[in-house]
Amino acid sequence: MRQKLADLEERARRAEEGGGAARAKAQREKGKLTARERVAILLDPGSFSELGRFVEHRCHDFGLQDNRPSGDGVVAGHGTIDGRTVHVFSQDFTVFGGSLSSANAEKIVNVMDLAIRNGRPVIGLCDSGGARIQEGVASLGGYADLFLRNTLASGVVPQVSVILGPCAGGAVYSPAITDFVFVVDGISQMFVTGPDVVKTVTHEEVTHEELGGAEVHASRSGVAHFRSATEAEAILGVRRLLRYLPSNNHETPPSAPVAEPPAGSAEQLLDIVPDDPGKSYDVLDVIRRVADAESVLEVQPEFARNIVTAFVRLGGRSAGVIANQPAVLAGVLDIDASMKAARFIRFCDAFNIPLVTFEDVPGFMPGVDQEHSGIIRHGAKLLYAYCEATVPKLTVILRKAYGGAYDVMSSKHIRGDLNLAWPTAEIAVMGAKGAVNILHRREIAAADDPSARAAELEDAFRERFAHPYRAAALGFLDDVVDPRTTRSRLISALEALAEKRDRNPPKKHGNIPL
Ligand code: HXC
Repeated sequence: MRQKLADLEERARRAEEGGGAARAKAQREKGKLTARERVAILLDPGSFSELGRFVEHRCHDFGLQDNRPSGDGVVAGHGTIDGRTVHVFSQDFTVFGGSLSSANAEKIVNVMDLAIRNGRPVIGLCDSGGARIQEGVASLGGYADLFLRNTLASGVVPQVSVILGPCAGGAVYSPAITDFVFVVDGISQMFVTGPDVVKTVTHEEVTHEELGGAEVHASRSGVAHFRSATEAEAILGVRRLLRYLPSNNHETPPSAPVAEPPAGSAEQLLDIVPDDPGKSYDVLDVIRRVADAESVLEVQPEFARNIVTAFVRLGGRSAGVIANQPAVLAGVLDIDASMKAARFIRFCDAFNIPLVTFEDVPGFMPGVDQEHSGIIRHGAKLLYAYCEATVPKLTVILRKAYGGAYDVMSSKHIRGDLNLAWPTAEIAVMGAKGAVNILHRREIAAADDPSARAAELEDAFRERFAHPYRAAALGFLDDVVDPRTTRSRLISALEALAEKRDRNPPKKHGNIPL
């Protein structure tokens, strides 16, 4: 037995080594951590149980038959984050560039199958040169096995990808199906085709970083949800994110001790939103004063900044906030904003996280580019997502709720559970200026002083529509409230709706406009 134990220890040591000391050194010289170091940061100390550490590849070509590193380039298993089980895989770039072989794909598939069966999140730490070239179609098949698991796990368990190196070719589509993608400055690179192919096909010259670096995906493509300066920050970010999420679609999210916002927050709400609907402000100043202290975790903060999506806590409960952002493009709904919010809403709905909407929206974005790029079908995604959602839906209209955007942003008509407005709310088909121009164009043109007449008519229109009481009279609002009571009203509603059960008609699945 002792001799066999010594043999086991030696094999385990070799498995831990991955691609060897020289390659680990090269990895560090690139400013990167090793696969095991990353797992150690992610999980509670001492909680990792590794699976498949003696798995070897089965390739007999290109000299690979003489080089079979134990574990074959991926560290896989399970452990805990804040005591809750998660399943994890971490690609090891020191072994054949972290490339995906059929054998190491099986290890990842095992982790994902266990995650689905156990109802626990799955976290992928990705650092890979893509399909293992020497294995040909066998490794492509491995990718397809992953894509299938990603799709089956979607809406069942939270899936998180942390991109900690290259992620090229079809390999990007596994992270793309997952719920949240973390990227790191100077480390992460994601593209379907790299700069060389781009140059050949489109004659564009572009660096790896310009094509698919962290900044690009966090701010322009919308592929990434969180961007960090360091690997450790990104990995610790995963731990923070999971604190808002349940482990699966049957659980409710974990709660936390109530943390009251800083003293004076409620009073300050009276001075943040300007009465003049043309003036901007930062809606995060509202959210931070309503939510529990230090609880706002923005999702995709750099992409489609005209809408804010964030996890928060309200009275210790997890909630997903969607808020028009008047500080950027006046908070208008455009294609990117609609898609960003729609995906966030669908995630929250799948995982029993109530939705809280702060509304101040002039409408959908006008323009040839937006129309021709499909704002009709992309805007419809947001509408569809809100309509479909059966979690508790709370809405606070802060100021403007104009046009179709009024309907879309979690209105009473689409199963809003609690719809409140501040006294500053204006609910109308459009703003006074636009409305008067359409309704009274001839009258204004014929007036002795057209601009004075237009101003008069605008005032009359505002008096009639630019307040919340008509909507309240029709029952489209549950109440008009003092802004200082917003927090307590939302917390009490979340408590009242904690056991909410609502269902959509039975179907195989809907057909969201894409
Ligand atoms: C086998 C690979 C590999 C791969 C890298 N290596 N990628 N081995 N299959 N796909 C090996 C290298 O040969 C090298 O081995 C070691 O990993 C480190 O690679 P380097 O090139 O030295 O590292 P670096 O300079 O940092 O460049 C990293 C890289 C580059 C940008 C990822 O290696 C690269 O371009 N690799 C190929 C990427 C690619 O085109 N993959 C296929 C994508 S298509 P030695 O022994 O020399 O250290 C795809 C299809 C997915 O993945 C299908 C889904 C539908």
